[in-house]
Amino acid sequence: MNNKPVYILGIESSCDETSAAVTIDNKLLSNVIAGQRVHEAWGGVVPELASRAHQQNIIPVVNEALHKAKVAKQELNAIAFTRGPGLIGSLLVGTSFAKSFALALGIPIIEVNHMQAHVLANFASPVGDTSFDPPLFPFLCLTVSGGHTQIVMVKDYNLMEVIGQTTDDAAGEAFDKAAKMLGLPYPGGPLIDKYAKEGDPLAFKFPKPESPGLNYSFSGLKTAILYFLKKQTENDDQFIVKNLADLCASIQHTIVQVLLHKLKIASLETGIKNIALAGGVSANSALRETVLKEQELSGWKVHIPAFEYCTDNAAMIAVSGYYKYLKSDFATQDISPVARYPF
Ligand code: KG4
Ligand code: ZN
Repeated sequence: MNNKPVYILGIESSCDETSAAVTIDNKLLSNVIAGQRVHEAWGGVVPELASRAHQQNIIPVVNEALHKAKVAKQELNAIAFTRGPGLIGSLLVGTSFAKSFALALGIPIIEVNHMQAHVLANFASPVGDTSFDPPLFPFLCLTVSGGHTQIVMVKDYNLMEVIGQTTDDAAGEAFDKAAKMLGLPYPGGPLIDKYAKEGDPLAFKFPKPESPGLNYSFSGLKTAILYFLKKQTENDDQFIVKNLADLCASIQHTIVQVLLHKLKIASLETGIKNIALAGGVSANSALRETVLKEQELSGWKVHIPAFEYCTDNAAMIAVSGYYKYLKSDFATQDISPVARYPF
């Protein structure tokens, strides 16, 4: 049997984070993430600016990831990269880099679906972390990010199925759009979380949008918040400033309750009590607390990835790459990125 360790370089560039990570087998040696401040002034990610920033960041980020991991490029066994879904100009930078670097090193490339990788972030842990307790198969993963909201049934590393998803806005979008209405800068999700800590989650009541089956819908909530704020500020133009904490807490509470409701139904319908979170919104403290509370209330066994593996990162790409490497699931050099990439 060949016991030589497998070194994978993971590359993520699907949106506004340039990231590179190195794994030894299924454990992380490094995970370097370069954010892009350039979008803040625009209130959202500007695709053209994102691809230019990826182009500037990619080589320093990969160099740093290899340096931190103390792995020479000649030691790499394969390069895993995000093929999609995402912004095509951004994906092109990571994909082209992965293809040319692998060609130069004479090693295989592994394509990774960004949304599947968010799920597999639940298996990301640094080398030497002996207390790590990953979820057991099968488990349900609530993937909540700026672009996606999905309930995924996960049977194996390479075997998963979306059983519910948003039909309009994603949960992160709902947070960010509500934050924008409150006058908060982009991305507003973390700020809502911050101000909500001082507020009353039941101060204001917003409608909880209903959707068939295990699907979600958040666009109605956005409209409800917009009309509510319009009405209140007509009477008092300081309404938002005076009530910011209560507004943040109430909006957050509504989104979290909507997310939890369908997750509970999914658990009841499938009989699966191993529950995981993934995606940027799983950094939300109310969502974490609420889901963890269900450990006692519903007998769930909950797993939430460490914060750095929740938002966009290459650790999840390298870990996904490792499990594909074990199956020799390699891509060929004629592969190109795709903006839409269903499971
Ligand atoms: O997964 P991610 O980093 O990027 C995408 O693939 O979209 O998720 C970013 C999203 C943004 O909408 C951001 O506002 C939201 O995650 N987010 C949060 C929190 N941290 C990040 N939303 C609520 N509370 C947070 N603490
Ligand atoms: Zn993401």
